[in-house]
Formats: sequence, structure tokens, C-alpha cells
Amino acid sequence: MEHQQIIAWLRESDQARLDKLWHDADAVRRSNVGDEVHLRGLIEFSNNCRRQCAYCGLRAGNKRLKRYRLSDTQIFACVRLAVELGYGTVVLQSGEEPALEARWMSRLIRRIKAETPLAVTLSLGERSEEELALWRAGGADRYLLRFETSNRALYERIHPPRPGIHGDRLAMIETLDRLGYEKGSGVMIGIPGQSYQDLARDIGLFGSLGLDMIGVGPFLRHPDASLADASRRAAIDADCQVPADDLTTCKVIALSRLICPEANIPATTALATVNKSDGMKLGLTRGANVFMPNLTPPEYRALYEIYPDKACIAEADDTHRLARRRIEAIGRAVGVGRGDSPNYVRRQAETAHTP
Ligand code: 5AD
Repeated sequence: MEHQQIIAWLRESDQARLDKLWHDADAVRRSNVGDEVHLRGLIEFSNNCRRQCAYCGLRAGNKRLKRYRLSDTQIFACVRLAVELGYGTVVLQSGEEPALEARWMSRLIRRIKAETPLAVTLSLGERSEEELALWRAGGADRYLLRFETSNRALYERIHPPRPGIHGDRLAMIETLDRLGYEKGSGVMIGIPGQSYQDLARDIGLFGSLGLDMIGVGPFLRHPDASLADASRRAAIDADCQVPADDLTTCKVIALSRLICPEANIPATTALATVNKSDGMKLGLTRGANVFMPNLTPPEYRALYEIYPDKACIAEADDTHRLARRRIEAIGRAVGVGRGDSPNYVRRQAETAHTP
């Protein structure tokens, strides 16, 4: 799809045309990844972070946040819950935990892989190639790292650099690919200073990166993050600024599906947060095929506050039941098995056949 056409869709307001976009995205979703909705058990095992990302409540500078890190035993209880609930994947997510010991992580991954049939997805921020290689060797299957925006100046404004880290997320995504990970990325929608041009370029990049997983959600303001100040400096013409709403998020999901037909695309928690009653359903009927129920123990869940008022701060069992009910209500089935992206499966088969 041409850049200008993506921009036109992002600006589209005609109901009949939008209905066609939703319909096309849903049809492409069905023929490429089927009617199953894969559930990924999300374990937010630490909210410690060494970074200062201007939008995020976990940023190191937020002294108001009580920090936690789950023990191995606690993490394993979540992993077992994922197995009991019939999930095919756990997602181990944390802030950019400064004390994360690469070998500890590797032992944890090995234990999950030895004791369960689960696929393991990591979402641990920017990490060195050595760490990524160690975890891959330990059995990690997938890695999620959003590039957040392809507008370099905007990226730098909201991600103060960390000395000693080169911070090139696109290069890291290539490294993940080379190491054989199933690779996921994505962006926030409606970052102050993000234009339609920027967002259209982001969506084009999903295609050229050949992503296996694409996660997108609206930017949600956090009172203890600093983006309020940054947004004043970043202010752009109101007509160019992308809104941080559910409609624009659904457009990005639908366009991502058309451009990357075989990717796994979640209806994200951020989408379910801006539209509590319908966000999940809208995502799943407009291109998405994945949902990530939160399995973090309830007493820690509120502390993983990347943005306020996060949806799904309920007991794991309730979260699970609600997800199931919503999936069945739209005539879809809960996925069984690992639910690898067909894009990844094909790429692996091709590399296996290359002499
Ligand atoms: N609003 C929306 N999304 C956020 N994220 C972090 N902070 C916010 C926020 N305030 C997203 C980022 C990150 C992912 C884990 O959560 O895109 O990559």
C-alpha cells in the first residue's frame, strides 16, 4: 500500500468507507490466521526500570512508584496458571530491569521450556546481543520491542539516551531476526508531536521489517511521566497531530493486517483501556487475532502502571473468563497450541531449505 493511501485511511471519516476497511481487514485476518484468538499469559515480573522514557509510569525518575520484583517461585506459579488455563504462550515482561542477571533469566527460560510445553515470549527492553543470544539458546521463542515511532527527532525527545547503549531499536529487531526469534514490534498512537505522516511511515515499516507480531495502542497520559512538558515543546499543527483514540488504533490494526497478513496482532490492553466496554471486541473484529490476559498476581498488577487506569486489573481467573466470554460472543474460538505466526513459520522453513 502506498504511503499516501495509508495517510488517507488514517484521516478517513466516511462511515461506509471505514466499514469496508474493517470488513477487508477481518477477511484478510480470517484467511491468513484463521478464527482462533490466541491467548498469551502476561507475567509482569518486575517494574524496575533504568530508563527515563517520557511517557511511561515505570521510568526510573518516578519516585512515587513502589517497585517490585517477583521471586522465581512467584513467577513459576504464574507459569503453571498459564498451563492450567490452556494457554500456549507466556510473555515475560519487565521494565528495563537494571539488576536483571542474564544467566538468571536464561535459567528461568530453560526451566519453563523443560517443565511445560509453553512458547516463551520476552519483553525486556533494549538488551545486548550477548544477552539476546544467551536467552535464545536457552529456548526463548519470541521477543517484543516496540520502536514506538520512526520519527527520529520525536523518538529522541521521548527516550533520553542511556550512556553505553546505542539505542537503535531497528538494529535490535534485525539482531532478533538473525538470532532466530519470532520478532514483534509496534508503536504508540497519538504521541504528542506524532503526525499522520509519521504514523503512516511507521505502518509502512511494519511491512518492510517483515514483522511476525505487531502491537499498537493509544498513548495514555501518565501524571508522573514528563510527556506533558515534552508535548508543549513538540506541539505540531493540530491538523497534523494523530489522535490517541480507539478509532485511530483500529485503523492502524486494520492497515497492519492488510500490509502484514500473516502477523499475529493483539487487541492490546491500551486499546481495552481507552474503550473499556468495546476495545477488545473492536480490535478483534478489525484485524487482531491475539489477546494477552494478565496473569501477574493481583497485588502487583496495579504497580505495573505504565499508564493509569489500566484495563484488566482483576483476578487472573476473572480476566480469563471475561476474555473467553468476549471471544465466544463474537463467534470466534480460543486458540489451542502455540499459535506461531505463519510469517515466522514460513521464514523458518525457507532458511531450513537454503543450502
Ligand atoms: N501510554 C500508552 N502506552 C504506553 N507504553 C508505555 N507507556 C505508555 C503510555 N503512557 C507502551 C509502550 C511500550 C509498551 C510496553 O507499553 O509502547 O513499548
